Amino acid sequence: MTAPKALVAGNWKMNGLTSSVGEIEKLARLVAEKGAGCDVLICPPATLISNLSGKGIDIGGQDCHMAVSGAHTGDISAAMLKDLGCNYVIVGHSERRADHGETNDVVKAKALAAQDQGLTAIICVGETDAEREDGSTLDVVTSQVRGSIPETAMADNTVIAYEPVWAIGTGKTPTADDVADVHAVIRNLLMDRFGDAGEKVRIQYGGSVKASNAAELMSVPNVNGALVGGASLKAEDFYGIIATYQ
Ligand code: G3P
Repeated sequence: MTAPKALVAGNWKMNGLTSSVGEIEKLARLVAEKGAGCDVLICPPATLISNLSGKGIDIGGQDCHMAVSGAHTGDISAAMLKDLGCNYVIVGHSERRADHGETNDVVKAKALAAQDQGLTAIICVGETDAEREDGSTLDVVTSQVRGSIPETAMADNTVIAYEPVWAIGTGKTPTADDVADVHAVIRNLLMDRFGDAGEKVRIQYGGSVKASNAAELMSVPNVNGALVGGASLKAEDFYGIIATYQ
């Protein structure tokens, strides 16, 4: 089976104001003029989704609640994201797992809520520095993948993003061999879970991806795109990563 079409997604985290609309317009121009050999997605803060949608770039959420609606002050639901035109939502980012105590069960419930609304869930997994140091990377990633994918998930509404926590925003990245090892384990888990369709699930790498290291990281077997933080905030920087798929 041929590799799935890559997905290069920008996670703006808690960055951006209404003035950021200029960046998305610039990105849309770059993609229209120079092309993109991958799917392109921006996940802005929820406050900006309305401002940034309809500009020619797919827009997704950074998180959603597990309920469809109700008494959950400050939260937003997958149905609300869908209502605004989103097709994707990130769930289980390590910053949510750490800052909000989200367990695999919570992440799975959020992914289920997203998929029930017709969204594709980008499920994040990855080991901390301490876990890497004690040699438990593959165990941690295995239990996160197994524990975070809903029973009813399908290959085409599931994306896995492998983001080693120690590589996020640090400028450090794993070696290509280390990325290959982890992605191979994730691919095998997906094949166990989805059968042959597991080949179609996109596995993104995330953590200090930038234009200068994207070509090497994106050419690793079983890497089907990137989840990008800092380097997705400026259109030119982000397009430099997208361009590796030309
Ligand atoms: O979700 C993307 C992210 O965690 C990676 O961030 O800034 O290292 O690209 P960054």
